[in-house]
Amino acid sequence: MIKRTWMIPLFSLALSCAASAQTPSHDQRAFETEQKMTDDERFAMLFSLMGVNGVIQVRDPLIPARAPMSAGYVSGVPRLRVPALIMSDGSLGITNPGYRKGDTATALPAGLVLGSSFNPQLARAAGAMLGREARSRGFNVQLAGGTNLTRDPRNGRNYEYLSEDPWHSAVLVAETINGVQSEGVISTIKHYTLNVNETNRHWLNAIIDPAALRESDLLAFQIAIERSQPGAIMCGYNKVNGEADCGNNHLLNDVLKRDWGYKGWVMSDWGATQNWDFALKGLDQESGAQFDKMMWGDEYFVGPLKQAYAQGKLPKERLSDMVRRMLRSIYAGGVDQWGPSPKVDMASDNQIALDIARQGIVLLKNEGVLPLAADTTARIAVIGGYAQLGVPSGAGSSTVLPPGGYAAVVTIGGSGIMAGGRNLYLLPSSPLAELKKVLPKAQIEFDPGQNPAEAALLARRSDVVIVLGVRAESEGFDSPSLALPWGQDAVIQAVAAVNPNTIVLLETGNPVTMPWKDSVKAIIQAWYPGQAGGQAISEIIVGKVNPSGRLPITFPADLAQTPRPELAGLGTPWGTPTTVRYDEGAEVGYRWFAKTGAKPLFAFGHGLSYTTFSYSDLSVTGGETLTAAFTVTNIGQREGADVPQVYLTQAAGDTRMRLLGFERVELKAGESRRVTVTADPRLMARFDAGVDRWRIAEGSYSVALGKSAVAPVLTGAASLKPRLF
Ligand code: BGC
Repeated sequence: MIKRTWMIPLFSLALSCAASAQTPSHDQRAFETEQKMTDDERFAMLFSLMGVNGVIQVRDPLIPARAPMSAGYVSGVPRLRVPALIMSDGSLGITNPGYRKGDTATALPAGLVLGSSFNPQLARAAGAMLGREARSRGFNVQLAGGTNLTRDPRNGRNYEYLSEDPWHSAVLVAETINGVQSEGVISTIKHYTLNVNETNRHWLNAIIDPAALRESDLLAFQIAIERSQPGAIMCGYNKVNGEADCGNNHLLNDVLKRDWGYKGWVMSDWGATQNWDFALKGLDQESGAQFDKMMWGDEYFVGPLKQAYAQGKLPKERLSDMVRRMLRSIYAGGVDQWGPSPKVDMASDNQIALDIARQGIVLLKNEGVLPLAADTTARIAVIGGYAQLGVPSGAGSSTVLPPGGYAAVVTIGGSGIMAGGRNLYLLPSSPLAELKKVLPKAQIEFDPGQNPAEAALLARRSDVVIVLGVRAESEGFDSPSLALPWGQDAVIQAVAAVNPNTIVLLETGNPVTMPWKDSVKAIIQAWYPGQAGGQAISEIIVGKVNPSGRLPITFPADLAQTPRPELAGLGTPWGTPTTVRYDEGAEVGYRWFAKTGAKPLFAFGHGLSYTTFSYSDLSVTGGETLTAAFTVTNIGQREGADVPQVYLTQAAGDTRMRLLGFERVELKAGESRRVTVTADPRLMARFDAGVDRWRIAEGSYSVALGKSAVAPVLTGAASLKPRLF
């Protein structure tokens, strides 16, 4: 028996050694295939075509009839068994903005919900779900991995992203990408980089100190790429320091490909290729070529690139490199080896959407009113926010058509190319209906929240009020302010004035201001909670689920506290060249608040639970990097999850706030766990642009173990050796 257990591993080890000796590497295979190609075959791979949707009216003849319509189709080379690439959005589910009649998919909660869960395993599950649902439709590239830092709380796309912190964003997005790619589907990471405002995004020049960029947005990409090797990276619309993201020699050739050794390919965002010479500056593929023609007058990687090659302006070696990078990702991802499609179980995918909402909804404030007893017979008013219909989702290329279709679509519109898709999409998970299920004995009444006086009438004769605040956020638009729209603040104020047990439920894609904060008993930040959002909300309200979400983005008290009280370009006509200075550099979000001493409305990392956690026995060791070990104990009465956070607060005499690590810990009442966090040394270092390396100054480094960026519980310090790496 013993002999057998030893024999099997040895035998299989021998086999796998023999196999690896014979199997060419992905680079080698890519090299060999590319060498066999004709130039026409090479050029055919360098652009993608958009399928027919509301904007593109005619199916390009290059897209075969059997290919599913989607955001991008890239020709393959059948004689060399190079598959066509069929690309679908996005990070929150498999989208269908009119490409395929009736094709619905699991609509995940917003990225900020996943971010609030601080749970990388959940990100992995979400990614694998995206991979399975993509592959079952024949999509072998998923345009997922949205990971721009939420630098500006007005940014209309923040809901798609994960957080304002590079480490947090990188750890979570890497797991999403790993999940997608575990199903044999290539994932992108996007949008590289500093695509952090939507106002005039195609004409936006983002100005930032290059070293600070390395310590913030670029660090998020760098760490995520190291941890997940996404097959492709999507460059953004904006310029960085005067050069277009997709034609940025420094960011693409120097940083991404040379310094980081990235081996996959760079595809442009749709409508971001403005010249064939972007190929010389590091762009490998033009996306949605028809879109570039609409925007900039040509399909640059179709005709003009070929012409440049014929004229000797595009070197043969570069052409080969572009193709090899794509082939390498195809081989590394196993996209050429697809067997039968993985089984998609929509019920278990719904469970993933539900779990993200359960773990990502954040309880911001609770003065003893929550949870409501499940058997309460109280009169409960539910007011506003289309709670009778469903929960909102963000708008833009990431919007997912859920099973059964939208509960309703409220047209919003505006100007610019994205105006047609700027809607408030309601996913059919009605908080009102779900509350009725979990509170069967309560007398629940609904008021639409159209009129403060009318809402107050119901609030006055209710024991408890749950009043909603919703906001429609969309790709292509930034918000002019942090206020709730449509007079909802007035409704909340009117309700709170007549009912002392008012609970505010926010379904927004960004932080909002809360002029009524002190007059309400509880505030729940549900973000855009996805297709099972209503259920998760109701479970949290009755305590069936103990809230455990933590804010991944700072809630400012007002815009004056943020680095840009005025946003350049806001209010100008679409298409106005705009320069935005990101002078906060690497001091994004909570780091900015630490630097300026401003007191946020709710801090990064904040979130309440129905139980209580204590921290003890913090030990901090130094040397090459910092390691913090500590014990977390659930000292309350019920099971729950905590997210202890370790921050750097002082670095060799320099006051500097950095999230060094976190862990989501699930504990039964009375249970303890020892947690160890080892910091990535780049989080203690400064990027020295003079030598293009990270530098750790010798000295003492202080850390705080806390419940948020402003709630330290234990502190410690250790010395680090000087390092240049
Ligand atoms: C978005 C991308 C998306 C692409 C394709 C663009 O508008 O910025 O995130 O992947 O469209 O739909």
